[in-house]
Amino acid sequence: MRQVALASAAAAVTLLLGSALTLAQTSPAPQPGGATLRPAASFANIANQRDRSVALFTEIGKVLQHPRCMNCHPATERPRQSDARRLHQPVVVRGKDGHGAPGLACTTCHGKQNFDPAGVPGDGHWALAPASMAWEGKTLSQICEQLKDQNRNGSRDLAAIVKHVTSDTLVLWAWNPGKGRQPAPGTNAQFGELMQAWADSGAACPAG
Ligand code: HEC
Ligand code: HEC
Repeated sequence: MRQVALASAAAAVTLLLGSALTLAQTSPAPQPGGATLRPAASFANIANQRDRSVALFTEIGKVLQHPRCMNCHPATERPRQSDARRLHQPVVVRGKDGHGAPGLACTTCHGKQNFDPAGVPGDGHWALAPASMAWEGKTLSQICEQLKDQNRNGSRDLAAIVKHVTSDTLVLWAWNPGKGRQPAPGTNAQFGELMQAWADSGAACPAG
């Protein structure tokens, strides 16, 4: 009897902890130290739809070209680290599927979540973006065209791209990057609204 009571008390605590965790994950507080984003609604006064779309994507670029995203979408086989975007130490490579070379997989060091005592970021599917999704060294215009190109973006239409950037845990990590790293600008919700407004306005790309 006593054991049953203990077990159910433990279960209740687990449940409580569980829902507190869910709450923390679904309503992330804006991170201190990050840059801001203009809200999507503030672009509504640009009457010309194409101009509005380009202006929205230019704001979106503040996130895409931020170190938190760029470090994992590099031009080479090697990730980058830190706000200064230095090459990853030790040397690691993308490998066949983005999870690293055999014998030195990302998961050797990167756990399921951030490990702040050692400053190692983490996530359940930590991996490098494929070469076709590299953004580093490209203009915002090139990044924009590539993001829409289903031959390079993982066969995603615009709705799937918006969904990816508001639900993929690697994207969400950029707003919860662990100690010593600046979060991506604004909040993920604001970023999602900008992406949706861009898609709704015809997903135009900046020139150049
Ligand atoms: C031998 C251990 C080790 C392996 C293997 C490893 N990493 Fe890291 N990685 C680290 C450490 C430690 C840091 C934190 C260093 C820092 O930020 O100063 C880090 C940081 C990073 C960052 C920086 C995040 C940011 O924005 O600052 C990225 C991106 C990254 N690793 C990607 C990868 C990928 C992708 C793989 C697999 C292909 C990988 N790492 C394999 C140890 C490792
Ligand atoms: C830890 C590494 C990592 C970080 C950090 C990261 N990504 Fe990615 N990204 C990936 C991987 C891996 C894929 C490929 C996944 C797939 O296709 O399902 C990807 C794919 C994407 C795609 C799919 C389409 C395309 O053409 O790139 C988008 C959009 C994207 N990431 C946006 C972002 C944004 C925005 C950020 C920052 C807020 C970000 N990512 C940060 C690893 C990362």
